[in-house]
Amino acid sequence: MSEAGERTFVMVKPDAVQRGQVGEIISRLETRGLKLVGATFTRIDRELAREHYAEHEDKPFFDGLVGFITSGPVMAMVWEGQDATRQVRQMMGATDPADAAPGTIRGDLGLDLGRNVIHGSDHEDPGANEREIALFFEESELVEWEQIDETWLYE
Ligand code: RTP
Ligand code: MG
Repeated sequence: MSEAGERTFVMVKPDAVQRGQVGEIISRLETRGLKLVGATFTRIDRELAREHYAEHEDKPFFDGLVGFITSGPVMAMVWEGQDATRQVRQMMGATDPADAAPGTIRGDLGLDLGRNVIHGSDHEDPGANEREIALFFEESELVEWEQIDETWLYE
């Protein structure tokens, strides 16, 4: 990882893939200044979905969540930057798009809690970002590269 921060895991969920929002979401993250260091367009299986959402295993919505996240392809990505995990969560907005502020990804692109467009690692759960990255990517699949505008992004 470059000196300019941390990595976080981001996933465009099946609803947003179906609705043609992959480009819009990538564009927002890129424009903000975050750096893409890994990406895979894939359909995740139930085992991986259950592991990824293990913290919600006992919740009533767990089966529906696993069913939804495995229902179609997702765009799984790793983004890097200063304070990346928390910044992505702020850009995503509240979990329920109905409560997400306009200007956020969920507030602009979604309407329903069970179809909330994007996943990002929880910044309040230390290690969630690295744990989720490791579930979806080998270290060798992540690309270290230097952005030409880094000196204009970070002091
Ligand atoms: P995510 O993990 O997907 O990025 O979402 P999040 O952190 O904002 O919210 P989290 O609490 O981790 O919940 C995971 C997903 O479960 C669904 N959910 N349903 N019916 C319900 O009460 C309920 N609560 C959460 C949402 O789709 C949420 O994204
Ligand atoms: Mg979560």
